[in-house]
Amino acid sequence: MTFLSFEERLKRRLCVGMNIHFVFILFYFFEFMATTLYRFTDAEGLVHLFENKHDKNLSSYLEVGDIHGCLHLNGIPSGRPSPIAITKSLLDFDHLVCDFDETITEHDTTSSFDTLANEIRPVHYADPQLSWSEILQAYLEDLDKVAVGDLCHLNASMSTSTPSSSSTSLNMDGQQQQQQQQQQQQQQPHRLLDPHIRELKCHVDGRTFTPEPETVVPKIPSLQPWIHSQMRKRAVEKVSLDRVYESGNLVGLTRAQIRAYGREKIRLRPGVVQFMKLFIEEQDRKERALKQELGDEGVPTVDSHGCRKRRGELWIVSVNWSQDLIRGAMDQIFGSEEATERYLPDSQLICSNLMFSYEDHQELQKRRREKGDNSGSEGTADVTTNNTNNTETKSQDQGRSGDEIADVDVADKRSKQDDAAEEEAYLSNGQVKVNCLTGTDKLRAFRKIQEEYASKYGLAPVETKWAYLGDSSTDLGCLVEADVGIIIGNSKSLLVECERSGVQVIDVHVKKPKIK
Ligand SMILES: *[C@@H]1O[C@H](CO)[C@@H](O)[C@H](O)[C@H]1NC(C)=O
Ligand SMILES: *[C@@H]1O[C@H](CO)[C@@H](O)[C@H](O)[C@H]1NC(C)=O
Ligand SMILES: *[C@@H]1O[C@H](CO)[C@@H](O)[C@H](O)[C@H]1NC(C)=O
Ligand SMILES: *[C@@H]1O[C@H](CO)[C@@H](O)[C@H](O)[C@H]1NC(C)=O
Ligand SMILES: *[C@@H]1O[C@H](CO)[C@@H](O)[C@H](O)[C@H]1NC(C)=O
Repeated sequence: MTFLSFEERLKRRLCVGMNIHFVFILFYFFEFMATTLYRFTDAEGLVHLFENKHDKNLSSYLEVGDIHGCLHLNGIPSGRPSPIAITKSLLDFDHLVCDFDETITEHDTTSSFDTLANEIRPVHYADPQLSWSEILQAYLEDLDKVAVGDLCHLNASMSTSTPSSSSTSLNMDGQQQQQQQQQQQQQQPHRLLDPHIRELKCHVDGRTFTPEPETVVPKIPSLQPWIHSQMRKRAVEKVSLDRVYESGNLVGLTRAQIRAYGREKIRLRPGVVQFMKLFIEEQDRKERALKQELGDEGVPTVDSHGCRKRRGELWIVSVNWSQDLIRGAMDQIFGSEEATERYLPDSQLICSNLMFSYEDHQELQKRRREKGDNSGSEGTADVTTNNTNNTETKSQDQGRSGDEIADVDVADKRSKQDDAAEEEAYLSNGQVKVNCLTGTDKLRAFRKIQEEYASKYGLAPVETKWAYLGDSSTDLGCLVEADVGIIIGNSKSLLVECERSGVQVIDVHVKKPKIK
């Protein structure tokens, strides 16, 4: 019976009639195996895991704490798994995809850009029309205002699926409940799958937005409510961005300034920093070993499973607005801009980004000159960088006071052209190029990464294993999608979302004092 219903579901999902049993086995495997996440409230635990993975005594460093949600039929055997038992599945990955805010960083203060902008915005620059806290307030009010039902395209699917009430009780009757859900689905197909949806426009307070560029089909059906919540958030997020643009809060920053801020002011989680270092060191080792094996650039080696071996890569997928801020933070980990470029090339950093444009550059330069005539513009850019000689010259200029005017002029002439050339490309115009707003965007990005990687190297999807490291409910889709999903920190909302979606979470703690 159960088999039949699964098959039915599969056929509908995959639109295939071929070798259904084979697909079924895969499906079954993914459906259950991948829905266990591990949670390290303390990122140091990850380091122990990595460093002591061959140590039979791992239990003296780590212990398994609470297990949230149901125990799966064929996943972890019932009872408490030992750290050694979970190590194998936890470290079974080639590539690492990470969230940024609060996963790699210690805090997410949404006011970070405000602080940054205030610090480095030229003093003579127009003050923002809306303060950051006003924007934040408006955002929160919007969030209250927008009911999921308001998102017109969600109407149909919301009325049928109410798994929030039932999925938490998916204990003994896992299969029964699956059937129940499936019946619901039969009665009313998910409108989310309708391609017309993406053409819809919705409105919040007269502002128009397109809810989703395209709809995401979740890996496990119980993730549907999460998808809805992310779409709702996405809508409000878009409206809120308009306010940020209007406020002019982000105008006039340079890329170098932002990067320096990331390098100097953003505090990272020491455990994650160490974990990432260990990861890239291991990949370097792997690469060296491969080189030796191959002589020089030979054909890729094929391991005993017929998989082509190569080094594992690092990606960051974030809803942050600035890639330069993230690069700056990563400079802290890798040690230099060159190393950051090597370990995290631009193509492996997926997030939104401030836009930098020429017109605003002219405007800014004009105002800077006007202002510069009657006062020294101190505080324009306290943050100096080693990026180029230009920026250093600039910040020297700014530090000079009236009695050094002659010098300034000389310096000005010398560097003006270079300055102009640099800033032309690098001054923010106050807008954000949106790549990633919420969890559904992240999920889409994560899938794209996997697909592109597989096609680039001609690999079948099963030939690579992906770990995802995240902290918040925007990460749930990716965490579930990954082969290994690791939660950092103790976000309550993420845990609630996991329980609501029937996703099991196993806590792993560092054993406090003991040996080391
Ligand atoms: C493993 O732990 C046991 C008891 O805790 C200890 O006697 C033994 O020396 C440890 N082995 C290693 C390799 O640390
Ligand atoms: C970007 O990252 C910083 C550092 O984690 C954080 O404080 C800030 O709130 C983030 N900005 C956005 C828009 O996510
Ligand atoms: C959404 O649902 C509400 C009430 O359930 C209804 O009034 C509204 O017309 C629906 N909107 C669309 C676009 O279906
Ligand atoms: C700038 O470079 C010098 C040496 O090249 C180094 O000592 C210094 O720490 C660097 N400063 C920053 C802020 O990176
Ligand atoms: C700075 O200028 C010196 C000489 O003018 C040059 O050798 C050096 O490469 C420059 N450094 C950067 C980072 O552009």
